[in-house]
Amino acid sequence: MNQEQLKQLVAEAARDEVLKLESGAILGVGTGSTANCFIDALAPYKGHFSGTVSSSNATTKRLLQHGFKVLDPNEVTILPAYVDGADEIDPAGNMIKGGGGALTREKIIASMASQFICICDASKQVPVLGHFALPVEIIPLSLGVVTRQLEKFGGKVSMRLTKNSQEDLQQASSTPFVTDNGGWILDVRGLHITHPRDLESQINQIAGVITVGLFAKERATILLVSGPSGVDRITF
Ligand code: 5RP
Repeated sequence: MNQEQLKQLVAEAARDEVLKLESGAILGVGTGSTANCFIDALAPYKGHFSGTVSSSNATTKRLLQHGFKVLDPNEVTILPAYVDGADEIDPAGNMIKGGGGALTREKIIASMASQFICICDASKQVPVLGHFALPVEIIPLSLGVVTRQLEKFGGKVSMRLTKNSQEDLQQASSTPFVTDNGGWILDVRGLHITHPRDLESQINQIAGVITVGLFAKERATILLVSGPSGVDRITF
């Protein structure tokens, strides 16, 4: 089975999982290629939900294209579940997220939800977080000071840049990647995150940081993980 098929498989399992929620519930929806498969798989059943809350402009666009109602998170007080992918997940359900740059809104919606249903394939499961670069969204004017603070944790910090267009592949891009919130992203490579909750709160306290893509406080409560033999359901 290739990675696309594994994403499809886990997306269908997540669809079946959220259809167990009572009719009329509101659903939180994540961002990324696995979340996109989930949105597509859920589209024929959109009538089961009274609305969705979205974690990015890209997800909002996809949800609206399928005819889902997308609500302002400020209108929502009860959110039974949030479904999203991850870049890495450890055996306790702590995650690195933000590979797609949507970490801040993802964390906000996750914090509203009673359940975080993480969907991924088995390649995202790691014993210790940190092989994937840890994204940190920052206020642009704090670039210098936050970089110096993050370097103290031992990793190598680099600013995320926009991808070059096809015509421009020879030249390295020097344009910062800008998030939906107008923030920039620093990626921290080379960390070995044995205490995710502590690191999350330490990085959150640096002035200029909007959000760190370490989801320990907002860790997964359910993991649906696909592999060659099907989908496993793990609860934390
Ligand atoms: C976006 C995210 C995604 O959930 C994460 O990057 C996984 O994406 P994909 O499903 O494409 O592998 O955190 O900010």
